[in-house]
Amino acid sequence: MIKPRKMWLNINGADRMLICDPEKDSLAQVLRRIGLTSVKIGCDTGVCGSCSVILNGKVIRSCNRKITRVKEYSRVITLEGIGTPENLHPLQVAWMNRGAVQCGFCAPGFIVSAYALLLENDNPTRQEVRDWFQKHKNVCRCTGYKQLVDAVMDAARVVRGEASMEDITYTPPKNNECYGKPLVRPAALAKVTGLADYGEDMALKMPPETLHVAVVQPRVAHHAKILKIDTKEALQMPGVVKVITHEDIKAKGGTNQMAEANLHERSTVTLPSRKILSDEKIFRYGDVVALAIAHTPAQARAAAAKVTVDIEPLPEYLNFLDAVMPDAIRVHDDTPNLYCCQPVLKGAALEDAEKIPEILDNSACSVEGSFHSSREPHLSIEGCTVQAYFDEDDYLTFQCKSQGLYTSISRIGSSLGVARDKLRIVDNFNGASFGWSTNAGDLCLAGAAAVAVKSPVALSLSYEEHQHFSGKRCPSYSNGRVACDEKGKITAAEFDFGLDHGAYSWGGDHVMEKPVRFAFFPYNVPHVAGLCRVANTNHTFGTAYRSYGSPQAYTLSEALMDMLAEKMGIDPFEFRWINIARPGDTNINSHGFKEYPMEAMMEKMRPHYDRAVTDAKAADTPEKRRGVGLAWGGFNVTEGGTDQCTVTLELDDKDRIVKYDTWQDLGQGGDVGSLMVTLEALKPMGVTPDRIRLCQNDTKICPDSGMSAASRSHYMNGLATRMAAEKLMEAMQKPDGTYRTYMEMKAENIETRFEATYTCMADPTITRLDPNTGIGDPTPAFTYVLNMAEVEVDAATGKTTVLRFVCVYDVGKIGNIAAVSGQAYGGISHSIGFALSEDYSDVKKHTNIASSGVPYIKDIPDDILLIPCETPRKSGPFGSSGASEAFQSSGHVAVINAIYNACGVRIFDLPARHEKVKAGLDSLAAGNTIAPPRKYFLGSDLYEELETIKANPVKFRGHDMFNSLGDEDGARFF
Ligand code: FES
Repeated sequence: MIKPRKMWLNINGADRMLICDPEKDSLAQVLRRIGLTSVKIGCDTGVCGSCSVILNGKVIRSCNRKITRVKEYSRVITLEGIGTPENLHPLQVAWMNRGAVQCGFCAPGFIVSAYALLLENDNPTRQEVRDWFQKHKNVCRCTGYKQLVDAVMDAARVVRGEASMEDITYTPPKNNECYGKPLVRPAALAKVTGLADYGEDMALKMPPETLHVAVVQPRVAHHAKILKIDTKEALQMPGVVKVITHEDIKAKGGTNQMAEANLHERSTVTLPSRKILSDEKIFRYGDVVALAIAHTPAQARAAAAKVTVDIEPLPEYLNFLDAVMPDAIRVHDDTPNLYCCQPVLKGAALEDAEKIPEILDNSACSVEGSFHSSREPHLSIEGCTVQAYFDEDDYLTFQCKSQGLYTSISRIGSSLGVARDKLRIVDNFNGASFGWSTNAGDLCLAGAAAVAVKSPVALSLSYEEHQHFSGKRCPSYSNGRVACDEKGKITAAEFDFGLDHGAYSWGGDHVMEKPVRFAFFPYNVPHVAGLCRVANTNHTFGTAYRSYGSPQAYTLSEALMDMLAEKMGIDPFEFRWINIARPGDTNINSHGFKEYPMEAMMEKMRPHYDRAVTDAKAADTPEKRRGVGLAWGGFNVTEGGTDQCTVTLELDDKDRIVKYDTWQDLGQGGDVGSLMVTLEALKPMGVTPDRIRLCQNDTKICPDSGMSAASRSHYMNGLATRMAAEKLMEAMQKPDGTYRTYMEMKAENIETRFEATYTCMADPTITRLDPNTGIGDPTPAFTYVLNMAEVEVDAATGKTTVLRFVCVYDVGKIGNIAAVSGQAYGGISHSIGFALSEDYSDVKKHTNIASSGVPYIKDIPDDILLIPCETPRKSGPFGSSGASEAFQSSGHVAVINAIYNACGVRIFDLPARHEKVKAGLDSLAAGNTIAPPRKYFLGSDLYEELETIKANPVKFRGHDMFNSLGDEDGARFF
């Protein structure tokens, strides 16, 4: 029995009486319990700073400050005490207007921290601001930090009386020319005032009858047979309502299998691979075998800890190389571990792949290398939190974080025994995702509990549980070779990729197509023989992550480009200049690029590169080595031929336009993106931002606008919105050219609500990759980036610091410059983390954001220059395409190339942790060279495999495969 303690604290200026659990309560829990939910709990281990408050004048992290360590009558300041919507503090205004709010989960902690800084020093330098956030461990995973420092500097000017609030507030143009401008996100106000309710906040505010769910995640093996699951003791625990296993899901009519599609012609998968609750086997460390449901979260956790699982260990394959060895047993009985592959052949290889090694051998110069990219964790600060309940119409409703609301319905499928048309998904405000929330695994857990007890439930995983439960970027192993003629023109390339898709198959046949599209993008390579293979292993499953599948490609190709340039004695910039594709050239899939901004982009980069090289030479010392690295990158836009998006526009009785869509906002700006395209589409009517109301992200009332992924949202939603706007404006327009009011529409009995769907099926230029040749043009648009990193390597420790970063990019016409820049800064920061520190390979060590290598502010340079190059896209809405993915495609290789340029150590195996660089430096000092890893064995020899594929062609189903579900071709759609 707990013995509560009464205490008084002065909170935000008022004395408050509190009743605490002295054994368990942290200050954060106490503050949240009295409604101060601006205090976020992210990591819950004191490493992310989301829970920052000011205690007796000092910034502290309240999640790991036990209430017993807080003196009675202490003074506490939370965000609620700093400013309100009607009385904003300059920091809050600056945060909104400087693009410092993306997902916003970190915003309360940062603003509180910055408030304390300005109390101490109202005239800080940028460096002092950075030092402060570093010292107080404030982490932002979305923004890349630069905008946060900008915001503090703006707010400080107001605090000092040198600027007014108006001076730091962006005002949209009066002339209705909003497109491209940094309009503030509609959700920003709620986020900077702590009023946005994220997952855990929603859980606190559920009805009192809500039950709480805890997972049984045994974490005893990566691969094992389950012999017995014993729930008896758990059921006797206080407050327990039920403990469920896979049998309970099946008893309610559910299949316990998440729906899955493996549509590639070469996929050998015949059964869905993922269960909601494990039944016969554990496939990975993070699998869940049971759920404990109780009246309180603590009771549920205590009961979950009492469930025992007996297992028989099986061989564990924790990487691609082990899983594809001939003696490896199958991870899934229905398919070989290596379950799909996609070749790409171009030029002479189309006739005979064996001609490529001949061309390579006979070229003036060639280089080869083998590379490994790591299992990159997303490290959003907020993990998995879901509430599930049957609503007033008996819809099983999920309040959650999902990047694809309708896709989540498809993934849940019949797994829970609830009809698909009775599933409803609603996005909470959420603390970012970057791809992991495309899977719906956490929704299935909460849904299974809600079905079992027919009561509202709340499920919140600890950060460690979330880390093991969620998917990660597929690690890759690759071998490659590229050659050029005596003038430095590339003659041919060969490559072979192996992607580790972990325990589950869904999506593997899709991500596998990216390396065979983006290796050597956007160069002109006349002859290519390549292959990408994907395999199941016993590590966590591969999933979407910004720039899905392309960083693995650039890890190989942009390193090889630098290596070949060096061998030829040509400057890496000039070597790229020689080889970029120009009008008439084709990509490795034998199709033209959609546009050719490459020369223009390199011209924009050239002066910065020249300056950087000069700076690096001048500053280089034996102790601090300086270097410059380049990397081209880019990505596709949309999910391809079957992608479609539906939106609805309605004139309401206040003469506002209501926009209904499911543009999921994970922090990238689904709200402001939707606003921008709607404003632009309705520009002929002179609609201003205040006349648009967004109604988003609830499947019961919003149409299916598709996923927030694949840089598709702006492109697809923009085109669909334009179609809906044309219909609405046509209906509203009077013969004299003016527009009817709502009352006039009703008086004339004219429809006021219009839905429109844009589908890529309508685009005849799109063709899937041929599974036999890799010829194809699967998506309607590309985005392009050219990255340059300037680094310093400490010769004594091997530690790399990125000093400056320049990114020239072309995403077409920019819709909202603040949102696009936000994706750029954020993508660059993830790229730097991917290059230097991030990893989820060791499940015992990589349990939180800090131990998994999340970059803190000092790991990301303050000096990041973004240079747009706006080539209008013919097919896209208003000249735009999409943004986001490209910004995380290749920046990591710019860093890796810069390390080599600085100190001669080439990193073939990500991440470039300081001990790895130091070992390379020591090796060089001892007079050794640094050899690449031995060529990886990826299941078979590349050319033997290409020969086998040629000898056994599969029927290319093109886009028709989606229409043939139900016949033999549809057998892979579960
Ligand atoms: Fe900082 Fe998302 S905006 S973590």
